[in-house]
Amino acid sequence: MNQPTIAFVGTGNMARAILEGLLSDDYPSASIWATRRQVELLSDLAEQGVNTSSDNQTAVAAADVVVISVKPQMMRETLQGLAPALQARQPLIISVAAGIDAAALERWAGGDLAVIRSMPNTPSLLKRGACGLYANDRVTDRQRETAEQIMNAVGITLWCENESGIDQVIAISGSGPAYFFLMMEKMIEAGMALGMDACSARKLTLQTALGAAEMAKQTGIEPAELRRRVTSPGGTTEQAILSFERDQLGETVERAMTACRDRAVEMTTQLCKE
Ligand SMILES: NC(=O)c1ccc[n+]([C@@H]2O[C@H](COP(=O)([O-])OP(=O)(O)OC[C@H]3O[C@@H](n4cnc5c(N)ncnc54)[C@H](OP(=O)(O)O)[C@@H]3O)[C@@H](O)[C@H]2O)c1
Repeated sequence: MNQPTIAFVGTGNMARAILEGLLSDDYPSASIWATRRQVELLSDLAEQGVNTSSDNQTAVAAADVVVISVKPQMMRETLQGLAPALQARQPLIISVAAGIDAAALERWAGGDLAVIRSMPNTPSLLKRGACGLYANDRVTDRQRETAEQIMNAVGITLWCENESGIDQVIAISGSGPAYFFLMMEKMIEAGMALGMDACSARKLTLQTALGAAEMAKQTGIEPAELRRRVTSPGGTTEQAILSFERDQLGETVERAMTACRDRAVEMTTQLCKE
C-alpha cells in the first residue's frame, strides 16, 4: 500500500525529530516534504531524498497529511496563507503547536478540514517522546492510524477523547521533562551540600533517574509499589520519604501541574481569539 505523502511545514527542531524518526522507520523519503524559509538548512534531508522547499504551497499541493510545526505565534498567519491550497487539497492537518485549539486551526485553514492536535515533548528528539493526540469530528479512522504512525516514530502516543485532555497532557508529559530535570538539579545540589563533588553527584543522579524510569517501565509495577519495596521500615530511604511527606510533596506537585494546565488554557484563549 502506498504511504501517504506527508508535508512538514516549518521544519525546525520538533518537525525534524519526527521526520528523522520516520526515515529511521524506513518511511519512503520521496513521500516526505519539508519546508522552512531557510531551506538551505534542510540540505542534509534533501541528500536523503526528502523533497525540500521554502514554498509551503508546493508542499501542501502534494500532501495527504500536513504536519504544521511553526511556532504557535506564527500559526495563524501561516495557515491563513495556506488556506486556498489546503481547501483545494483537503489533507489531514496535524498541528504540534501548544496553545492553538482545533477549532482555530480549522478556521484559519478555511474550515471543514480534518484536524488533529498533537502535543509531543522534547524527549521525542531521542525517540523517547510521549505525545497526546486529539482529533476533530472530520478525522477518519484511517487518518487516525496515519497520525499515530507519524507520532509513534518518536515515542508513544495516547488519544484524548476531549480537547481538554490536551491541556492535561501538557501538564503531565509536555512540561514533565522539566519537572524531572528540576528534581535531578536539586538532587545534584543536595549531594554537593552533603560533601560530594559535582561530577560524581551528577553521574549518580542521572544514572539513578534512568534506572528508576527503566524499572518502572520494564516491570510494569506501580511506582508507589516500587517505592514501598525500596523503603524498609526503620531504614534510610524511609527517612527521606517521611521528610518529603512532611513537606507535602504531593500537594506541591499537584499545585505545580494545575498552574501548568491553567496557563495552557489561558494561552489558548489568548492565541485563538480571532
Ligand atoms: N520543541 C519542543 O520540544 C516542542 C514540544 C511540543 C510542541 N512543540 C511545538 O512545535 C512547534 C515548533 O517548535 P520548534 O521547537 O520545533 O521550533 P523551531 O525549531 O523554531 O521550528 C519552527 C520552524 O518553523 C520555520 N518557519 C517559520 N516560519 C515559517 C513559514 N512561514 N513557513 C515555513 N517555515 C517556517 C522556522 O524556520 P525558518 O526560519 O527557516 O523558516 C523554524 O525552523 C511549536 O509550535 C511548538 O509549540 C515543540
